[in-house]
Amino acid sequence: MEGKLRMRNKYKKPTTLRCSAGNRCSLPVAVVSVVVCLFLLQLYTLLPQKDAFKLDTRILTGKSFRELEEVDEENIQVPPPRKRSPRAIKRKPKKPTTIIEEFLDETSQMRHVFFPDIKTAIDPNKGNDSFYYHPGRIWLDTEGNPIQAHGGGILYDDRSETYYWYGEYKDGPTYHAHKKGAARVDIIGVGCYSSKDLWTWKNEGIVLAAEENDETHDLHKSNVLERPKVLYNENTGKYVMWMHIDDTNYTKAHVGVAVSDCPNGPFEYLYSKNPHGFDSRDMTVFRDDDGVAYLIYSSVENSELHVSPLTKDYLDVSNIVSPVLIGHHREAPALFKHQGTYYMITSGCTGWAPNEALAHASDSIMGPWETMGNPCLGGNKIFRETTFFAQSTFVLPLKGLPNYYIFMADRWNPADLRDSRYVWLPLKVAGPVDQPLDYDFGFPLWPRVSIFWHKRWRLPFRLSG
Ligand SMILES: *[C@@H]1O[C@H](CO)[C@@H](O)[C@H](O)[C@H]1NC(C)=O
Ligand SMILES: *[C@@H]1O[C@H](CO)[C@@H](O)[C@H](O)[C@H]1NC(C)=O
Repeated sequence: MEGKLRMRNKYKKPTTLRCSAGNRCSLPVAVVSVVVCLFLLQLYTLLPQKDAFKLDTRILTGKSFRELEEVDEENIQVPPPRKRSPRAIKRKPKKPTTIIEEFLDETSQMRHVFFPDIKTAIDPNKGNDSFYYHPGRIWLDTEGNPIQAHGGGILYDDRSETYYWYGEYKDGPTYHAHKKGAARVDIIGVGCYSSKDLWTWKNEGIVLAAEENDETHDLHKSNVLERPKVLYNENTGKYVMWMHIDDTNYTKAHVGVAVSDCPNGPFEYLYSKNPHGFDSRDMTVFRDDDGVAYLIYSSVENSELHVSPLTKDYLDVSNIVSPVLIGHHREAPALFKHQGTYYMITSGCTGWAPNEALAHASDSIMGPWETMGNPCLGGNKIFRETTFFAQSTFVLPLKGLPNYYIFMADRWNPADLRDSRYVWLPLKVAGPVDQPLDYDFGFPLWPRVSIFWHKRWRLPFRLSG
């Protein structure tokens, strides 16, 4: 091997440009060479860089990693009884007695704790260099408007080296379609935002819009479109969106599919159905390392979850389906894979009211899944028991930071759904679990999933375009 290399080197043609002082080279040759060199240099810088994750190593210190796990404490208590307005009494005769009731009461004195006002908004046009996440604060896009991407998910698009955040665009009035109906906003469509740094988001517009006139259409504004998630299909080169499609009363329980040639749309709506003949409400999709994608949906009246591989083009479910967490009544699934193990965060089923998150793990995405307990750390007991007053929607892997993820959740505001907030927090998989597992038939002991509460935090490195 060495000999071969040496031989090759020996006969290697000199490729360096020789123009030392001893040699006389003509001016035109030198000028042409310089121009060619400059041209090649220009070409090289125009080439797309393979690794878009340019980590700023100056701030990549052990201290900043530890800071992700140094949780903030909270000390909120139900305020003393107060005079309530006649309107509040009429609407809710019983006065709020628990923190969750306070949270849901739009006239609460504690409103600012859960829904801080616009003056505290995260604004990329003010102090662009801060890069701090403030869970629960209003988050503005690059045009200064509150981001509308609720129940969302993020796709990292390798081709444009850009993150795309898709979610429900809910910038319309909240109302009840009938007395017993849930608070709702008419379908406007799926909002899409792009970013290189996961903090500065540019509005890419509504990439799948409501249908205004045709009342029989799934996307007619009187229906429900929730939890849109997008995957890129390498076989077809198309972007495929999956979403929950329902009627006002949530009796249809369909999953819907749309497709686009570009990550920023427009998406063409294809169809909806009851997958495998089952009802399907909260859902997500997950693309595995081998390119196989899966639909995970709450089914049988939200009592269990179903996992199903998608077809090769991601446009339909295959006919394989596996019921998991049967009888557990979980929704809002958010899946990720860490060191060959599948993890999932779910919420309980209490409508718009927040509840306790649970982490689950499995060696196979098709199950059986094991429940590992509440992943939330910090805040106080009530923060941990309400998922920081929010509900899971997505877990985003961080390239270049293999043990950490961003946990994305929605702090729903049922009095004014468009003003629902985003709760993004660091998530880590490591350390022993802190409660016995449900089953004990030879499962490996999974590491603990932890979500760390912060009033304010940022990534320990910068991402840039
Ligand atoms: C903030 O950064 C973005 C790019 O990330 C840029 O487009 C924008 O102009 C910057 N705004 C200010 C005020 O510097
Ligand atoms: C929803 O339920 C209400 C009350 O039960 C009913 O009046 C209404 O017609 C239902 N709407 C649909 C679209 O099924």
